[in-house]
Amino acid sequence: MSAIKCVGILTSGGDAPGMNAAIRAVTRSAIYNGMRVKGIYRGYKGLILDEIEEFKTQNVSNIIQRGGTILKTARCTEFRTPEGRKQAYDKLQEHGIDALIAIGGDGTLTGARIFAQEFNFPIVGLPGTIDNDLYGTDTTIGYDTALNTIMECVDKIRDTATSHDRLFFVEVMGRDAGFLALNGAIASGAEAAIIPEISLEKDQLAEMIETGFRKSKNSSIVLVAESEVTGGAMGVAERVKKEYPQFDVRVSILGHLQRGGSPSAQDRILATRMGIAAIDALLDDQRNVMIGIQNDQIVYVPFAKAIKNDKPINRDLLNTLRVSSI
Ligand code: F6P
Repeated sequence: MSAIKCVGILTSGGDAPGMNAAIRAVTRSAIYNGMRVKGIYRGYKGLILDEIEEFKTQNVSNIIQRGGTILKTARCTEFRTPEGRKQAYDKLQEHGIDALIAIGGDGTLTGARIFAQEFNFPIVGLPGTIDNDLYGTDTTIGYDTALNTIMECVDKIRDTATSHDRLFFVEVMGRDAGFLALNGAIASGAEAAIIPEISLEKDQLAEMIETGFRKSKNSSIVLVAESEVTGGAMGVAERVKKEYPQFDVRVSILGHLQRGGSPSAQDRILATRMGIAAIDALLDDQRNVMIGIQNDQIVYVPFAKAIKNDKPINRDLLNTLRVSSI
C-alpha cells in the first residue's frame, strides 16, 4: 500500500487541448489505486487561495472531448515568492494532500521543481503545452491538436492567397520554439517556415527569397514562429514591404485560436497514458519527475532536465520542408 493517500491535481500556465483528458485519467487512476483526489482550481493561485474540491469519478465524466481545462488555469506571480510557496504548502497540509500532479508547461514545472525541493514534497509533472518545448519528451499534450488547427487555418488562408496571388505570413505560437511553425508548414504545404532556432544562424527571409521560393507558384504561405528573434509575422512583412516591394503581402496572426478546440485522438490518448503514468510514478516512489514519451514508451524525466535544456528541433524537417515545397 502506498504511503500516498491523497493527491492534488492542478493545471497551470496556458491551457492546452487534452488537459481535461489528463485530469480525467489522473483522477480515475488515483481512485482505482485507492487514493483520494482533490481538484485544485486556477493552478498555484487557487492553491494559495484555497480553491480546492474533492474529486470523485463523476467530476471527470464527459470531459475527455472538451478543450481548455475544467480546473481552470492561471499564471501565478505569488508562487514565485517564498512566502507564496509557504502559503501553498500550508494549504496542502490543511487538506491532507500528500502528493501533487501539476499539468502545464515550462513555468509550471519550474514552479513545481522549486516547491518540491523547498518542502521535500512529492510532485509529478505532466507536459501540457501546445508549444512542444519540453525536453525529454517527443511530444506534449495539446501539440497535436494545435498543429491540426494550424493546418486547417492555413488551408483556408490558401484560398485567398491563391485567388489573389499573394504572399501570406502566418504567425503561429510557440514561445520561442519553432515546432508548431516547422511541422505546421510541412502539414499545410506552406512554402517556408521562419523559426527562432535558425534565426541566429542565417537570414531565413533573404535565403527564402533568393532561392526563388515562388518559382513555380504565384502565391505563397510562410509560417513564422512568434518570437523576438524572428520578429514575428508583422516584423517579417514590414521587411518584405521595404526590401522586396514587388510582393503583395498580407499577415495573419492565428493567436489563441491555436489553444482552443476539442483535443485530437492523439492528444486524448497521450493525455490518458500520461495521466495514468503519473499515478504509477507515485506508486513507484518516483518524485519530482515529468512524465514524458519517447519512441512510444513512457519515461520519467527529472524536472531539472525537462526545463533546463533547450529542446532541439529535428533538423531533417528543414530539408523535408525545402524539398516538398519546390
Ligand atoms: O505556452 C503556450 C502559449 O500559448 C505560447 O505559445 C504563447 O507564447 C503564450 O502561451 C501566450 O500566453 P497568454 O495566453 O498568457 O497570452
